[in-house]
Amino acid sequence: MGSTPSFPRLSIPKDTISVVTGGNAGIGYHTAKWLAMMGGTVIIACRSEEKAKQAIQQMNEEFTEKQKKTPGIVDYERLNVEFMFLDCNSLKSVMNFVEAYKSSGRKLHKLICNAGIGLQDKLSYTEDGHEQIFQVNYLSQFLMVSHLLPVMKESGPDCRIVLVSSRAHERCSFDPVDIEGKKYSEPKYDTTELYGRSKLYQVMQMYRLNEILKDTNVTVLSLDPGIVKTPLLNTFKRGALKVLIPMLQSFGGTKSPFEGAWTTLNAAVNPELAGVRDVYFSDSKPKASTSTSKKKSHQRAVWDYTIDSLEAYLPDGVLQDLQ
Ligand SMILES: NC(=O)c1ccc[n+]([C@@H]2O[C@H](COP(=O)([O-])OP(=O)(O)OC[C@H]3O[C@@H](n4cnc5c(N)ncnc54)[C@H](OP(=O)(O)O)[C@@H]3O)[C@@H](O)[C@H]2O)c1
Repeated sequence: MGSTPSFPRLSIPKDTISVVTGGNAGIGYHTAKWLAMMGGTVIIACRSEEKAKQAIQQMNEEFTEKQKKTPGIVDYERLNVEFMFLDCNSLKSVMNFVEAYKSSGRKLHKLICNAGIGLQDKLSYTEDGHEQIFQVNYLSQFLMVSHLLPVMKESGPDCRIVLVSSRAHERCSFDPVDIEGKKYSEPKYDTTELYGRSKLYQVMQMYRLNEILKDTNVTVLSLDPGIVKTPLLNTFKRGALKVLIPMLQSFGGTKSPFEGAWTTLNAAVNPELAGVRDVYFSDSKPKASTSTSKKKSHQRAVWDYTIDSLEAYLPDGVLQDLQ
């Protein structure tokens, strides 16, 4: 993947704070590690404290003396990476995260919505009654963003929300009266369709949020990281992809998790993207998202459904900021 644009290595002040959801593994792990190696303070928001602590230890072990001599990388004794609990299967867990974050009094400069699940073998619902892929990949992180916007607005210039979507958003259908995809639930469960939709809604969220935030210091970008060798990719090895993905892997058509983090890192730190909105990146390069994702009436339908679904968790003050 030598021709894939990378990301600028630059020094990030220690008091620049990033939250990376799902920062304990895969693309999120490398995103968090590099944000910290460039000097920032990073909170990995994860559902397993044990996995998160192991990840932080591994990041520090990989942060070697040799790397510390690389331009753009800090020479701290230890990386500033911390764990906070977040389980996107539960809206209550999201609210606990939000409350804990707000009561820490910290600023927030980069919010990387990366946590996600891939294709599932069977239909599952969360404790909140939502189809699991819809909630984990989209709804829960929408709630987190909504509550953390006031913090970001008070955190100084060039604050960014990065929504890690997927090229899968290009291949799903859209139905404004069936946003959650009930048609693709029982008896004909279509997990590919539901995954694609969760990723489509993230791209739509970018467009709608940027409209709302246009006069503020907070910008929103979204992206496709490419085809990246992680456990999530393995869930796609079914149907025609069962053959295609291993073929791609053997011909070097897939990325390592580190390479998979480049597009996210570029969106989060590239100074040329300060103030830039509404760009969907693939391989660190701008790419047109689908016409479906750009259609305003579709965006509104998803937005309204989302707000209705989160009604119990969006007090008036937060709702006002979303209008
Ligand atoms: N890999 C690809 O080819 C590819 C392509 C396009 C887009 N993406 C997107 O890239 C993002 C990262 O995926 P990845 O490939 O790096 O997959 P991964 O290695 O499986 O990592 C997924 C991360 O999300 C976390 N997560 C899952 N469910 C969660 C929950 N309920 N609450 C909090 N965290 C949760 C996982 O935590 P646990 O370790 O606890 O499970 C893990 O940290 C996803 O949004 C995915 O849709 C990936």
